[in-house]
Amino acid sequence: MKTNYIAPYKPLSWQVEPWRDKAGVMLLTGSAGGGKSRLAGERMHAYMMKYPGAMGLMLRKTRNSMTNSTVLFLDRSVIGNDASVKHYPSKSRFQYNNGSILAYGGMANDEQREQIRSIGQDGSVDIAWMEEATKFTEDDYNEIRARIRGRAADWRQVVLTTNPDAPTHWINQRLIKGGEASVHYSSAADNEYNPPEYIDTLKSLTGVLGLRLRDGKWVQAEGAVYDIFDAGIHIIDGFPIPADWRRIRAIDFGYTNAFVCQWWAIDNDGRMYLYREMYHTRRTVNVHAAQIKRLTGDEYIEATVTDHDAEDRATLEEFRILTTPAKKDVSPGIQAVTERLKIAGDGKPRLFIFRDALVEMDTSLESAKKPSCTADEIDGYVWPKTADGRAVKEQPVKVNDHGLDTLRYAVQHVDNDAGPLLLW
Ligand SMILES: Nc1ncnc2c1ncn2[C@@H]1O[C@H](COP(=O)(O)OP(=O)(O)OP(=O)(O)O)[C@@H](O)[C@H]1O
Ligand SMILES: [Mg+2]
Repeated sequence: MKTNYIAPYKPLSWQVEPWRDKAGVMLLTGSAGGGKSRLAGERMHAYMMKYPGAMGLMLRKTRNSMTNSTVLFLDRSVIGNDASVKHYPSKSRFQYNNGSILAYGGMANDEQREQIRSIGQDGSVDIAWMEEATKFTEDDYNEIRARIRGRAADWRQVVLTTNPDAPTHWINQRLIKGGEASVHYSSAADNEYNPPEYIDTLKSLTGVLGLRLRDGKWVQAEGAVYDIFDAGIHIIDGFPIPADWRRIRAIDFGYTNAFVCQWWAIDNDGRMYLYREMYHTRRTVNVHAAQIKRLTGDEYIEATVTDHDAEDRATLEEFRILTTPAKKDVSPGIQAVTERLKIAGDGKPRLFIFRDALVEMDTSLESAKKPSCTADEIDGYVWPKTADGRAVKEQPVKVNDHGLDTLRYAVQHVDNDAGPLLLW
């Protein structure tokens, strides 16, 4: 394994000349805030500037997170007021006066993948950047690698930036341990551009999140409540929900903490699909209610199961969102969710999450290193431990559990409900 330490805050010229690392695959990992994204962004920009006619591709798992976060970052911090570059948001690209094009998008579903495939002559690309790379599947990576055959320069590259994930993750197995990438580590403590509060945020992280984001380690969560959850199985590409499937919503209120609203579809075999999700802090229930109405459109929602807060429920009801108080018992709820996550006799679990369910990313959560959707919460949702390290399987540690509480309400509702009244 080839690893070099980088101090990305040193001169930005590192990214430009000399190109210290021309390996075909470059992985920037380590703790949060080390400057990985900035470095990758500078590198993409510099490549576009240096090699006329270059085709660059910037990817995040969902197009939504790309446009709401990475593109803004690039626009504000990297490309800035460079007059030789124009941003065309409607075409999802930056166009350079020298003929280079830096296009961007997501790979969350077929529609997004098709958009990405249509980029570049013969689909060929000179340099690609996969941001928050652990969110991609190995197939996504293979597909992008196969396209790196541009001729604008005498070298090509896939750059991946990511915080660590589980040791079993394909990035750890194949790129780090398998030696496929040249690996560079960075850490927040070495980046003098981080505000001091940022370091404090990292210091306060506990459990597996602390080990990964503060210490930069590829480690498994110990005592995960949903340890049978497998992103490769339970997170799937979205698809149009058939008209005859049942639908419900589940809501957990929050202001400082995230307000979560989940839309679930239930197929004719009783499997549940989280097909849409709002997950946002610092908005009033009024604002959320209007958005819920808008997103729901003319879908028929059988029930909206919510947390019990009387005032918040009353606000929803003013918007004619009729609510049903959730069954909140924790242990039975967790058991019910676990049952659904298990692979049944037909080879499938009974609960799925659409990859592109999140409608709008709350970027303040992302910067605070908090989960920004339900799926993000699962790894850090753990049982507390006794002094001698035994997990106490009664009540999970109450942190970053807003989406998972909501999910529990939805499952409890569906499992205890006979279904819609059939009248004949
Ligand atoms: N060379 C640099 N010059 C100026 N600012 C920098 C430089 N490198 C990093 N920064 C700034 O430091 C902050 C953290 O950097 P960045 O977001 O790239 O880190 P990261 O490793 O991608 O973090 P995360 O793990 O959260 O994704 C950003 O505000 C970034 O603009
Ligand atoms: Mg980053």
